[in-house]
Amino acid sequence: MDRTTHVTDRPARSAVAYDPGARAGTPHLRAARVLAGNWTGTSTVPSRALYPHQWSWDSGFVAIGLRHLSPLRAQTELETLLAAQWGDGRIPHIVFNPSVPLDAYFPSPDFWRSSTAGRAAGAPRTVQTSGIVQPPVHALAAWLVHRADPGLSRARGFLARVYPRLAAWHRYLLHRRDLGGAGLASVIHPWEQGMDNSPCWDAPLARVTPAPARTFRRADLAHGAPEDRPTDLDYGRYVRLAADYRDRCYRDAPAGDAGAGADAFAVEDPAFNALLIASEHALARIARELGATGTARRARAERLTGVLVERLWQPEAGMFLCRDLRGGGPVPERGVCGLVPLLLPGLPRDVADALVRTLAGPHFGARLVPSYDLLGEAFDPHRYWRGPAWFNTGWLLERGLRTHGASARADALRDAMIEAADASGFAEYVDPHTGEARGATGFSWTAALTLDLLQAKDVNGAKGRDRG
Ligand code: SER
Repeated sequence: MDRTTHVTDRPARSAVAYDPGARAGTPHLRAARVLAGNWTGTSTVPSRALYPHQWSWDSGFVAIGLRHLSPLRAQTELETLLAAQWGDGRIPHIVFNPSVPLDAYFPSPDFWRSSTAGRAAGAPRTVQTSGIVQPPVHALAAWLVHRADPGLSRARGFLARVYPRLAAWHRYLLHRRDLGGAGLASVIHPWEQGMDNSPCWDAPLARVTPAPARTFRRADLAHGAPEDRPTDLDYGRYVRLAADYRDRCYRDAPAGDAGAGADAFAVEDPAFNALLIASEHALARIARELGATGTARRARAERLTGVLVERLWQPEAGMFLCRDLRGGGPVPERGVCGLVPLLLPGLPRDVADALVRTLAGPHFGARLVPSYDLLGEAFDPHRYWRGPAWFNTGWLLERGLRTHGASARADALRDAMIEAADASGFAEYVDPHTGEARGATGFSWTAALTLDLLQAKDVNGAKGRDRG
């Protein structure tokens, strides 16, 4: 079947809300319909109602699925995001759509004030963005998008254009964000790590004085059930951290600085760094495609894998734990972020084996991989990153299982995810035991990554996917 005929490169003319009753066709068609409805003409919104702008790591995952429908749209998705890159190399976590009303999402452009507060850091003048970042999945996405149609990619000079921007992005993270001084990148806000209200942040966030509730108005509760979303207290702290960073003109503290000018929240996270390393491997491949050797990048990716293991691996937990740079030491909470390094090909054998065991064990062994320890005191199967299963982390773990030869487990996870994504109306997240939909439906990365899993299943069957 020629799948490219189902979705064209023409922009969607109007917002198409996902209709969960629309069961016509195949899972592939239903997923493609979600992406067509969320396409703005130059990028994809994560969800029409809840997240009406462009989000950084969402776009990376979206491009990975979109490449099977339209390699051109997938390239455009990444190019639009990269056009909003700051002069210091950071890729902002949100690129705002100026035609969306200010009160449709909080924090809005008038909170971040990128073009004024971000001027010294090189924020773009033509587009409004947030000032924090999100996990660096982009070089991996760019490489996979290229592989979907190398002819089109070469004809458009896709890799040659994105490579310098991706290299500057990694430079920013590896230099300006090496707050611990060991070589890993730190996040300074839970939104940067992407798993906003994970119990991993409870202790580091407890030190942050929340902004008073009357000083801001959440927009998310108009579209999501309060019991599926972070609490007001969480939001008060998110706002405080973001406002303090903005008021410092988005200046990053020098490496190792825990002094007065430093961020109250600074964490080395295993998933963020694993994505950075996987993307560094991808940049090495991109460099080779462009005629260089890529050797230095590959060596750096391998060296960083060693640092990740040395800094964050906890053998007695059978997984990686976050390191709280301000409170000192490992955070004793098991979040799915601690399993994501399974993605890395250069992991020592005993570490990879332990991660595979932990995935199947009592802390994470549900039908779908939970975002947090099933046995943890804070576990909640419905509240955002405190227990529900998400499809991006599932996709990364499926890839990790395959990378380390656990193909039967990878197949089982892939099939469970495809089934749950389709049955839930491509939900933002689901109950890890029952697959019941939570958060938004018609969620872009759920649809995109389902397409990628379906494609891998069709093309390679039990043999596994093209690893790119
Ligand atoms: N995940 C955040 C939100 O819920 C933003 O990055 O708005």
